[in-house]
Amino acid sequence: MLRYLLALSAAGLALWWAPQGRWLLQFSPAVDPGRLLHQQELSQYSAAEPSKGLYLSLLGRVFDVGKGRKHYGPQGGYRFFTGRDASKAFVTGDFTEDGLTDDVSDLSPAQIVALYDWLTFYQKDYTPVGRLIGRFYTETGEPTDALRQVEASLAEGLRLKAQAEEENQQFPSCNSEWSSTSGGRVWCSTKSGGVHRDWTGVPRMLFSPGSGHTRCVCVQPDAQKQSNNPNLKEYKDCSTHAESCLLSQD
Ligand code: HEM
Repeated sequence: MLRYLLALSAAGLALWWAPQGRWLLQFSPAVDPGRLLHQQELSQYSAAEPSKGLYLSLLGRVFDVGKGRKHYGPQGGYRFFTGRDASKAFVTGDFTEDGLTDDVSDLSPAQIVALYDWLTFYQKDYTPVGRLIGRFYTETGEPTDALRQVEASLAEGLRLKAQAEEENQQFPSCNSEWSSTSGGRVWCSTKSGGVHRDWTGVPRMLFSPGSGHTRCVCVQPDAQKQSNNPNLKEYKDCSTHAESCLLSQD
């Protein structure tokens, strides 16, 4: 939970208890909302001449990216981000006109988390200008339902991320190798999966019902809790206490 809250604060967000009896996820109200811009005004701050400067919008938050001219200016490789809100392209990498859109409604919670990482980047490295009236902010600068949905997706993404991190601590990934002569091998070590620990563990297949994927994880074989886990399976032809298993070809 602590990690979850830290991640929220890194994204400049806070949880608020609303009078109607539910938690709301919001950017800190201490932040000055700045100017309210219409798309028409923002368009004047694109890399295309004549230009009043270089602004871009992310989730309706407008930033002055003039100091990053080498990226966003007329010769910059990311000039297409200026003068508009192309939030979706920040995570899809689709820089076509269709891809450069602010419609993020079909992004997954994990992609929304990645989008807020970009927001944190712009808040840290560039000067905030204000908010763009449109998909994410109303004429009076209030968050729209679309933004509320994005925030809900962010909360879900952070929850899933924290859960995945916790699972990775409990079940660190195995080391693996493959060679054309001897086939595949998975094995555990006290650093496998990037989790430094004082136990090595034994390889098991862990099935994730959510994703339908199976991965090799290291488990402590004597832990009662794990031996009861229906999603854990031993490798075929590999003894219960072996720290290394050869993968059968079938
Ligand atoms: C989703 C895909 C990508 C997005 C949205 C993206 C976006 C950006 C943005 C906005 C910047 C400017 C950051 C700033 O203001 O300082 C940047 C810089 C940079 N990007 Fe990307 N990028 C993507 C993929 C890539 C890939 C695949 C590569 C390499 C093959 C790459 C290489 C770079 C480099 C080297 C810089 C820094 C350039 C410099 O400092 O001169 N990017 N990227």
